[in-house]
Amino acid sequence: MNENVERILFTEEQLKARVREMAKEINKHFNGEPVVVVSVLKGSVVFAVDLIKQLDMPVSLDFICASSYGSGTISSGKLVIKKDVELEVEGQNILLLEDIIDTGETLHEIMKMLKGRGAKSIVTAMMFDKPARRKKAVQADFIGFHIPDEFVVGYGLDYDEQYRNLPYLGVLKRSVYEK
Ligand code: PRP
Repeated sequence: MNENVERILFTEEQLKARVREMAKEINKHFNGEPVVVVSVLKGSVVFAVDLIKQLDMPVSLDFICASSYGSGTISSGKLVIKKDVELEVEGQNILLLEDIIDTGETLHEIMKMLKGRGAKSIVTAMMFDKPARRKKAVQADFIGFHIPDEFVVGYGLDYDEQYRNLPYLGVLKRSVYEK
């Protein structure tokens, strides 16, 4: 285990097993219809790589990099797009992948944008859901795990751009971020 990780919430094996189950559920849902998978950078990349290998419908893959900035108690939710999707969205079934949903602002704004571009349908899949901090209700179709309100890293999730490579989901030691 990484020395800065206090404890493991989900092991690599548990994550793999859950992704396998989610892929089955998603395959059932789409029943062979083509999808455009949109992976939200950077955190969802690890989840996306594991998931798409197990999808059995025609899949195209794209990425979006966006941050949403709410302003304090007023959750205005403004989306800043750093990298947009390149594939056509109009008329497509979108499978939107997130590593974690926290306040819900990012997913809410990305969904709004993709709907505005005429997506035929938008289905969301998130590996981790942290409902304790939710500000915006989000459409969560497929959820890997609900997690407590703790600082988690690994499986794509970072602290200061580190730890994304850890194959498990772990709780970061307080001493690392309370300096
Ligand atoms: C994380 C995560 C989601 C978002 C969730 O991304 O990947 O996109 O935050 O938070 P929210 O529900 O409060 O909007 P982050 O902005 O940390 O970027 P990263 O994926 O590059 O780490």
